[in-house]
Order: sequence, then C-alpha cells, then structure tokens
Amino acid sequence: MLKLSRYLKGYLKESVLSPIFKLLEAAFELLVPLVVADIIDRGIAGNDRGYIYGRGALLVAMGLVGLCSAVTAQYYSSKAAAGFGTALRDDLFRHIMGLSRAETDGIGQATLVTRMTSDSNQIQNGVNMFFRLVLRSPFIVFGAMLMAYRIKGDEGLLFTGVICALFVIVFFIMRSTVKLYRSVQKKLDGLLLKTSENLEGVRVIRAFRREEPEKAAYRSAAEDLAGEQVRVGRISALMNPLTYAAVNLGLAAVLRTGAVHVDAGDLTQGQVVALVNYISQILVELIKLANLIILLAKASACAKRINEVFAIQNSMEDGTLDATEAEPSVEFRNVGFAYPGAASESVSDISFRAAPGETVGIIGGTGSGKTTIANLIPRFYDAGRGEVVIGGRNVREYTVRSLRKLVGIVEQNARLFSGTIGDNLRWGDGTAGDGELTQAARTAQAADVIASKEKGLGSAVEQSGKNFSGGQKQRLSIARTLAGKPRILILDDSSSALDFATDAALRKAIRSDCAGTTVFLISQRVATIRNADRILVLDDGRMAGCGSHAELLKSCGLYREICLSQLSEKEALGA
Ligand SMILES: Nc1ncnc2c1ncn2[C@@H]1O[C@H](COP(=O)(O)OP(=O)(O)O)[C@@H](O)[C@H]1O
Ligand SMILES: [Mg+2]
Repeated sequence: MLKLSRYLKGYLKESVLSPIFKLLEAAFELLVPLVVADIIDRGIAGNDRGYIYGRGALLVAMGLVGLCSAVTAQYYSSKAAAGFGTALRDDLFRHIMGLSRAETDGIGQATLVTRMTSDSNQIQNGVNMFFRLVLRSPFIVFGAMLMAYRIKGDEGLLFTGVICALFVIVFFIMRSTVKLYRSVQKKLDGLLLKTSENLEGVRVIRAFRREEPEKAAYRSAAEDLAGEQVRVGRISALMNPLTYAAVNLGLAAVLRTGAVHVDAGDLTQGQVVALVNYISQILVELIKLANLIILLAKASACAKRINEVFAIQNSMEDGTLDATEAEPSVEFRNVGFAYPGAASESVSDISFRAAPGETVGIIGGTGSGKTTIANLIPRFYDAGRGEVVIGGRNVREYTVRSLRKLVGIVEQNARLFSGTIGDNLRWGDGTAGDGELTQAARTAQAADVIASKEKGLGSAVEQSGKNFSGGQKQRLSIARTLAGKPRILILDDSSSALDFATDAALRKAIRSDCAGTTVFLISQRVATIRNADRILVLDDGRMAGCGSHAELLKSCGLYREICLSQLSEKEALGA
C-alpha cells in the first residue's frame, strides 16, 4: 500500500490540506457539548434568555464554519484520490502493455481486468476515506475522552473502559473479515473469467447446446462468490449491535454515576448532558474508524494484488540497434523454444536461411509449430535455444520498436478494432495518406471489401470487427500490415478463409507490389506455398525437410504425402 503512495506525488497540497480541514471540523464538534452544557447550566438554570440566544447563535456559527471545513476537506480528498486512481491505472496499463507475451500468458486476462478496475477502485476509495478520517477520528475519540476527564476524573475512567471495549470488538471483527475478503476478491476473478469466456464464446456455446451446463457452472461460481460475501457480511453485521451494546451500557453507567454526582452537587446537569454527547460522538467516530480500517485492509489486499503485477518484470531486454536499417534476411540457427510453463519444446532444432527478397513457405499440420516460428521473428517470444538472426545480427540486438517496424506480421486470428476501416489500416503507418492505404488494400485484395461499404475507408468497424466476414477481416488485416511497408512480411495462415482464386491473386500481387520484401507464407495448403523459393516442412515441432517444391517431392516423404493428399499426382508433379 505504501509503495503505491508514489501516485499521490502530484497531490501533496490536497493530501495535507484535507486531513487538516477535517481536524478543524472535529475541533468545532468537540466544543459543541461544552457550549450546550453552558446553555443548560447558565442559560436555562438562570432563566437568562439573552444568554441562551447568544450561545445558540454561537452554535450556528460553529456549525457553519464546521460545514465549510468539511466541504473543503472532502473536495481536497476527492481530488487527491481521483488523481491517485488515475495515475495508478495509467501506470498499471502502461506496465501491462510493456510486458512481453511470455509474462501476460502466465497471469491471465481476467485477473488483469479485476486488478485494473475493481482493485484500483478499492484503493482509490481507501485513499479518499483515509484522508478524511486519519486525523479526525482519533482526534474525536481521544479528545472526547480528555474532555470527560476534564469534567470529572471517574467519568473519564468510565470512558476509557468503553473505548477499550469498543477497540476489542472492532479488532476481532476486522481480523476475521479481512482474511475472508481476500478470498472474495479471488472468487471475483474466477467469476469474471467465466463471464468473459462465455461472452466471447457465446456462438460456440449455442452451437454445441452447452447453454444449460454453462449456466449451471456460472451459477455455481456466482453462488460461491455470494456465499463468501454473505459470510463476510454476517461477521461485519455483528459490528453495529455489539458496539451499540457497549456504548449503551456505557451510557447507562454515565447516567447512573452522573445522577449520583449531580445529587451530591459535584457535577452540573449540563455537564452530564455533555458527557452523554461525548460518548455518542465516540461511538459514531469509532464505527467510522473501524470502517476505515476495514476499507484500508481491503485496499491493502488490493494493493498487494496490484503490486504483484508491477513486480512482474519484462523478461525481454530491449536492444539498441535500429532494425529498419538492417538487410531483410532471416536466419534460424538451431532454434528451440518452449512456451512458459510448458513441459517440452514446441519447436526444436530449427535451422534455415532466407535471403533478402526470398519467399519462404512453412507447411505442417496443426500444432506442428508454424505459428511458434512466426512468433520468434518479431520477438513476441525469445528463442530458448539457438539464435534468430536478422540482417546478420541476433534479433535481441535491435530495439523492439524498430524490429516490429521491419517485420510485419499478419496473425492467424485476424483481429480488427472498433473505429473506421481507415483507422485500422493506419495502424500500419500512422502518417499514410488515403492513396497509400488504398494501394495496400489493393495488394491485399481488400479493395472490393472497402468498395462494398458505402463510406469506403470511412466505414465503421465494430467491436473486434464483427461486421466483417472471416475472409474480409483477413484481407483487411493483411492490408493493415502492408500499409506499414514492412521489409519482412509474415502471413500466418492469412489466406485460410480465402477462395483459391483470391489466394492466388493475393500472392501474385504481393510478388509484384512488394519486390525486395522477404515473405513468409504459412499455410496448410500446398497450393499456397508450392512456388516459394524455399519450403520448410514441419512435423511436431521439428524440421522434416527444407528445400524447393521439386526438391522436397524427391527428398521428403512427409511433404510428398501432404501433396498427394491435396493434389492429384499430375498436379503435384506439374510446375
Ligand atoms: N501460448 C501458448 N502456450 C503454450 N503452448 C502453446 C502456446 N501456443 C502454442 N502452443 C503449443 O505449441 C505447439 C505448436 O503450436 P503452433 O505453433 O500454434 O502450431 P501451428 O501454428 O503449426 O498450428 C502446440 O503443441 C501448441 O499446443
Ligand atoms: Mg498456427
């Protein structure tokens, strides 16, 4: 929690002024019972109307000043807390975005979302209440106790007893709820995971008629969370009755001993009323303090969860060289890679070289490691063994930014973002004019997709591109990558949803429009990769062969098998 206080740096003035104004408010509150006592003892007892009105006016004035201080304090504390929350979320988002996939794979999306939202809100609330109560509540509790001692020593002792009893009650309740609260937050993560998975996969759920089992699973996760919250609630619910019981017993004792003192003449009636006022102030303030402590305990649990995310270091060290100056050759030297947490390598002993301007095909069954190889080139992950070399240097020597400018990748799952088509295409190159975007779209065979929409480049793309078909999304995401004019282009199964003619036209357009670009074509279709200068055949993470179509037909049994399963013998052998 303390670690996060750095986000208050810009709000030093507010952080100091808010508690001070609350203190001022509290000071006026402590004086009120004294004035009331005077009214009773002098004004009412002496039947002095003028005195009563005068003191009454004083009370109103004190109330107004107290109100102004409270409003000022609240303003400052809200401002500091909101500023704190904004800075925290901003930094957390930046941190998460800066992590490499190796790290984000490990944490999981759902829990990152709760940490960004519910956890950071909780801390923001904690900060807000902290400023308001940190000085005020202890000041009132101890101030009221001192006032009681000032009025009469043994009443002060009685107050001390009541306060101790209240502390004990609050302490035990807090201790049991804070632990439960951590588990509530964890269950909330689980529920969120279920929610996002279900919302994203709603079509699959319907197609497989899984609605009922999924509803049941959701209900069970929700009930689990509710049960935990009820358990916390039950314990917290004890707070009010127990503290009120303690205070009311104290009150009875004050009235009883007060009456005896008044009888004996060593306390006035006004003083007894002041004591009653003080004890109720203590009750109210202690309950606020207890709530503050619970809030802070929750906030500290949340801070711990957020600090866990901050503690995750990016395992990817940035290089220093500018990759955009490099020659677009790609070489793998005995590369092996295992995903974080995986027991074995997903690809092993991969070695090949692609000269600048060459086209490399990668073919292999699902799960054979094609995407994994593609991921290593723009450094989405770092190779575990061996070296990935671009332009004669290990990719780790380049800055990640420049590397990803040099290497354009169209990922297997085409993903668009809400905005317009133009906005999406400009992700490739923020400064590109409409003409360049149109040219990229033409190469990507996406010109007719854009033309089919009324507003052309200005047409809306809805959330995750759901108003486009799979093939349209693929072509637009190819255009987006081409707009950045990468000199190494990777198309990872990017034509899987295109018909054969469009696929062929796409390859032809890339060959003529992107001369000099080193191209990786990843596919399960022989037709897509057969004309590549070099073809890499993958089998369960290992290289089964590397060479041209004609060479592989002779030398690689697996390649021949794949060809014959897709093409007739004549087609396979013919050029
Ligand atoms: N993010 C990941 N975490 C763990 N294992 C993964 C991940 N992505 C892929 N794998 C595993 O790596 C292997 C190769 O996957 P991939 O490269 O995606 O194959 P392909 O693209 O050829 O279908 C598979 O066995 C898959 O289970
Ligand atoms: Mg793949």
